[in-house]
Amino acid sequence: MTQCVLLTGGAGYIGSHTYAALVDAGYDVVILDNFSNAARDVPNRLEVLAGRGIHVIEADVLDRAALDTVFADHRIDAVIHFAALKSVGESVRKPLVYMQNNVGGLVTLMQAMEAAGVYRLVFSSSATVYGEAEQLPTPETAPLSYGNPYGHSKLICEQIIAETVASDPRWAVGVLRYFNPVGAHTSGLIGEDPAGVPDNLMPYVAKVAVGELPVLSVFGDDYPTPDGTGVRDYIHVSDLAEGHVLSLKALERDGTGHVVNLGTGRGYSVLELIAAYARASNRHIPYKIAPRRAGDAASSYADPSRARALLGFEAKYDLHDMCRTSWVWMQNAKKASD
Ligand code: NAD
Ligand code: UD1
Repeated sequence: MTQCVLLTGGAGYIGSHTYAALVDAGYDVVILDNFSNAARDVPNRLEVLAGRGIHVIEADVLDRAALDTVFADHRIDAVIHFAALKSVGESVRKPLVYMQNNVGGLVTLMQAMEAAGVYRLVFSSSATVYGEAEQLPTPETAPLSYGNPYGHSKLICEQIIAETVASDPRWAVGVLRYFNPVGAHTSGLIGEDPAGVPDNLMPYVAKVAVGELPVLSVFGDDYPTPDGTGVRDYIHVSDLAEGHVLSLKALERDGTGHVVNLGTGRGYSVLELIAAYARASNRHIPYKIAPRRAGDAASSYADPSRARALLGFEAKYDLHDMCRTSWVWMQNAKKASD
């Protein structure tokens, strides 16, 4: 029987790519999003991509009555919970908003799931829960910590999930710790297009390449890394999306949950990423060396072996693919806004 999955935050960057992966894998999907950080045309783009009508509910995960209606109207088998606020800097300025949205959203959702008898959940966590990781590559057993309210909210969510699962064996929850998702769908129809000045490296580089921003600041060139710039485990968003399909299948198959890293296990420096993007776009990317950004680790990359063993997860796309798909998407997004 076809399984139906509810995606909270499904109109966002990772959620929209996961929608595409789930439809490809034969799932029915319902999206719930309040559009606080999603473009209004994402549902239309997803319809074109999937070649079929899409079910989108505009609602907030904090709205328990709206959630109850969704569970009453649809035979939902599992939920993937993407809906959250994700800007580290904003979380420092507005910690209560982050706790309410990210922690309150999870609690409200899990209560509604419990009331509806739905116990399969995949949760978007982050490598940020490792804080400044002491172990590289970082396994899931590494000590957990946080350096800002956003990271704290994810850690609290993981703890709430662990306590809830321990309280009732009907729950099966996949906690996915993403490393650095980048790139765009190969169709060029969906991708990441943050409003204003991006906080993260790849969208910033993309905006410099396309001419929307003049120059990139490289935050520090004196880290203990091969070229002195920060090293991260960039993972193509479509590989990440596939990880969600595999997580759902593992929950269905095993009836128990898992906590896994989703990364490639390979780190690239800021300068390597700039060079790769310049090659993929055939554009010069002007950059200047700037001071370190507070709270940044020198290096972060995953030990991906548990995801391989438990889910059969293997990243397919390389750094060139990440840059190339981002570039195609950026040009399409720019054309659409011109
Ligand atoms: P995104 O902002 O593009 O997507 C989040 C979606 O959730 C948006 O469409 C937004 O409108 C929606 N949303 C936010 N609050 C909501 C609420 N209260 N009710 C309903 N909808 C709400 O972000 P993303 O990059 O797709 O991230 C998805 C998830 O993955 C988040 O939980 C984020 O914390 C996590 N994550 C992201 C990254 C990353 O680098 N992008 C890394 C690690 C973890
Ligand atoms: C950041 C967040 C992390 C969050 C993740 C995904 C911080 C400290 N960490 O991770 O919690 O989960 O985004 O949203 O904010 N860089 C530049 N110039 C730029 C931007 C970034 O040199 O304009 C460098 C950074 O110093 C870092 C690398 O690029 O070395 C990657 O940065 P970024 O894309 O922001 O990701 P993270 O810092 O890993």
